[in-house]
Amino acid sequence: MSKRGAFIAIEGLDRSGKSTQASALIKRLEAANVPCKHIKFPDRTTPIGKMIDSYLQSKTELDDHVIHLLFSANRWELASSIVKALEEGTTVVCDRYAFSGIAFSAAKVLPRETTSKDGDSTIPIPTHVLSYEWCRAPEISLPAPDLTFLLEVSPEKAESRGGYGEERYENKEVQEHVRQVFDRIGEEIESSGVGKWVVLDADLDKDEVEQSVWDEVKPFIEHMGVSGPVRKLW
Ligand code: TMP
Ligand code: MG
Repeated sequence: MSKRGAFIAIEGLDRSGKSTQASALIKRLEAANVPCKHIKFPDRTTPIGKMIDSYLQSKTELDDHVIHLLFSANRWELASSIVKALEEGTTVVCDRYAFSGIAFSAAKVLPRETTSKDGDSTIPIPTHVLSYEWCRAPEISLPAPDLTFLLEVSPEKAESRGGYGEERYENKEVQEHVRQVFDRIGEEIESSGVGKWVVLDADLDKDEVEQSVWDEVKPFIEHMGVSGPVRKLW
């Protein structure tokens, strides 16, 4: 069997430069004559993707469980085409994947925080709407990325990049909660051995980040190769 393609995911908070880096990586792969394909989640072009788009733009309201399952279904509707491309030797670069799905949903807290008394001070206890385990469940068995980059951006830098847009989740408080879930996912992926998780400082200049991405991808594709069947998420 000829070598299969690598499955590479680029994850991070909003304004961390994921899309820029995914495009830059595709250009580098093309220049190196590596067959490759650029995909993005959510894929807003499918019927499910259109429902997600409408929700993100606050044109529709959906129960938190429902939107979580739609995001996951949006991946499942493309899962077999991802596996097919990889098996045909095409490297797939994915701008956001299941880890965003878990992180953004598990980060949701009820608007009103409950408090606990600790001596004289009152400590807010955020109440999560969906548990981490519940959010992770629909992602189980999706094709697993061989390599995932988490682009870490500081709140200050994210804001300096033109601030957040108009979409749901694009505010500091949500992003901070999401950051914490991403850290937990990274630890789990690392210890499960199902793929490599690389954290990069995305506050740096985009050319520097691009070089760091390439420094990981190039040897990965050339030397280690990607062998064996496409793995499944843990
Ligand atoms: P985008 O800005 O990359 O198009 O993503 C839109 C928003 O959707 C972004 O705030 C992250 C969020 N999101 C989820 O909540 N769950 C998911 O599964 C994915 C892929 C994105
Ligand atoms: Mg966005």
